Amino acid sequence: MIWKYKYGHPFETEAVIENIKESEGIPPFVTVDLQQGFRCRYKLSKDDIVYGLGEAARGINKRGHCYISNASDDPDHMESTKSMYGAHNFIVVAGAKNFGLFVDYPAKLTFDIGYTFTDILEIICPEADLYLYVIEGETPYEIVKQFRKIIGRSYIPPKFAFGFGQSRWGYKTKEDFRRAADGYRENHIPIDMIYMDIDYMQDFKDFTLNEEHFKDFPEFVKEMKTRNIRLIPIIDAGVKIEEGYRVYEEGVRNGYFCKRADGSNFVAAVWPGYTHFPDVLNPEARRWFGGCYRALINQGIEGFWNDMNEPAIFYTPEGLEAASELMRDYIEDETGRISIFQVREALTGLQNNPNYYEDFYHQVDGRMVRHDKVHNLFGYNMTKAAGEEFERIDPDRRFLLFSRSSYIGMHRYGGIWTGDNKSWWSHLGLIVHQLPAINMAGFLYTGPDLGGFGADTTRDLVLRFLQIGVFTPLMRNHSALGTREQEPYQFERPEDFRHLIGLRYRLVPYLYSEYLKAIENDTLMFKALAFEYKDDPIASQIEDQLLLGDEIMLAPVLTQNATGRAVYLPQAMTKVVFHADETIEQIPMDAGWHFVDYPLNELVFFIRPGKAVPLAKAARRVTDIDWNALEWLGDGREYTLYDDDGTTKEDTLIIKNLERQK
Ligand code: GLC
Repeated sequence: MIWKYKYGHPFETEAVIENIKESEGIPPFVTVDLQQGFRCRYKLSKDDIVYGLGEAARGINKRGHCYISNASDDPDHMESTKSMYGAHNFIVVAGAKNFGLFVDYPAKLTFDIGYTFTDILEIICPEADLYLYVIEGETPYEIVKQFRKIIGRSYIPPKFAFGFGQSRWGYKTKEDFRRAADGYRENHIPIDMIYMDIDYMQDFKDFTLNEEHFKDFPEFVKEMKTRNIRLIPIIDAGVKIEEGYRVYEEGVRNGYFCKRADGSNFVAAVWPGYTHFPDVLNPEARRWFGGCYRALINQGIEGFWNDMNEPAIFYTPEGLEAASELMRDYIEDETGRISIFQVREALTGLQNNPNYYEDFYHQVDGRMVRHDKVHNLFGYNMTKAAGEEFERIDPDRRFLLFSRSSYIGMHRYGGIWTGDNKSWWSHLGLIVHQLPAINMAGFLYTGPDLGGFGADTTRDLVLRFLQIGVFTPLMRNHSALGTREQEPYQFERPEDFRHLIGLRYRLVPYLYSEYLKAIENDTLMFKALAFEYKDDPIASQIEDQLLLGDEIMLAPVLTQNATGRAVYLPQAMTKVVFHADETIEQIPMDAGWHFVDYPLNELVFFIRPGKAVPLAKAARRVTDIDWNALEWLGDGREYTLYDDDGTTKEDTLIIKNLERQK
């Protein structure tokens, strides 16, 4: 059962696409107070668990902290971080009563989940212009399925996107890309994609190519494709201000950029220096910006990643002027009136200053909407711009597309990566907490920057990241300019990397099948143990193990120097070990606690009783995988394999009930 309540004048985000009748009166489960803005309250019982919030900090159980839905560029996010790149306002309360809440509100929204008062869940925003959805279901999982149904079918990438991808901010020339491709080939490590970061552009101008380094780009795209590698370029939110640059001139001429209150184009500094933001909330401007992707598609490109679309702002001319003035005053001041701390704050406060979001407007249905009122929709609509254009190019063809910032609804157009993480063990742990919540919000094509984006990584951390990345639909090694190089071949014993990445390719039929099932049935690819083992009091406490599909349980090692870890088995399972020498061991294990060895160069996971997992033969590319020569893992006899042609959207779904041969 789903109730929908309308308060004030909500902005239509199109997060929910099912037509649900508005309910009158008081919502069930919660109390809503509209005295000062919107306050939605629930008294938590002692053992209630709160799931959800998609890409957020902290644990699987969100209880005990405060989160603010407010798309933020924060590469240094930590436990205390309240806002991340995505804003996903869906939670499920599980315990004394089971229900879900989705607050469809695109501005800043606070989820105080037992933070101010231990037992009080409160959702707060200053203006009550929103839709509240209350979902009742027998179990948390039933609630999630209902929610997923009303927000519409999640995006499906082309099958090649289930391969492995290499990325690094700093690849500048064709030679850099060839070197990466060669590194993989020479070390016999499978790969399907190499990502192009901002340096492929001319002066960081969207939809351009560096004139010196990428002459004959279509030829280069072809060259890479003959090696079965797809190039996936980045697109940034800001359009460089530069006379003679076509995108800039078209945007200005047609009034397609976000405006200041006085009607002039809003200016924000990002990688190219001063830029304008395309007004992707205005359908006409969105169509235009989407159309710009064609320039690269016409040259053979089949996928993109959309970045800096919170939107991130390094500074504005007004902000810079104010900070400079303060600095000048500080230098000239002889009275000590201005402290150095004030100056420092003014300078550090330049980047992503929240005040900027009050300084520009979108044109929606003939009215000007101030950006901060719809802030969380920018990445969504930038990605929608591309997605809608892909539809126009060929309604039946799939493109690879994922974004840094997102809001629920965007999941129909593309996936997300979890933004700039760090080469920290804590960020390895964070992804385990995020995956189920991100799936709950509808985003299935997802994954972190494997190895960590910022800071220098270590060999063991990259391998531990890969042991999770083997299972995430988006499997990409990405790192920041200036950090230690982290392609597998930069480390000793590249064969260990080959082994793990190779296993990904052997698992693609299973992973792709589970992906399609999650799409078709509105289920989760990754879930907390408690979603299946409802009556197991220990399962609900486990925050570092996940279920994958109906068959697999993952228990990754998340700390440095560990040779294994304690694993909780809610039921007897088969432990699968892919040894470094390519032998596979399957060991039946009893329910309960075990210390399980998990070396860096092996892959270890568990299969639930009565389940079978298909395993393909080794392949160097997704297209080379033989879907008909499958081996089996686990003690089950049957598996339902979902497959399709991998490139078109038309319903080519094939469902095969496979019975395992002896
Ligand atoms: C942002 C992106 C990162 C990219 C960098 C340079 O930080 O999140 O992935 O490498 O910009 O484009």
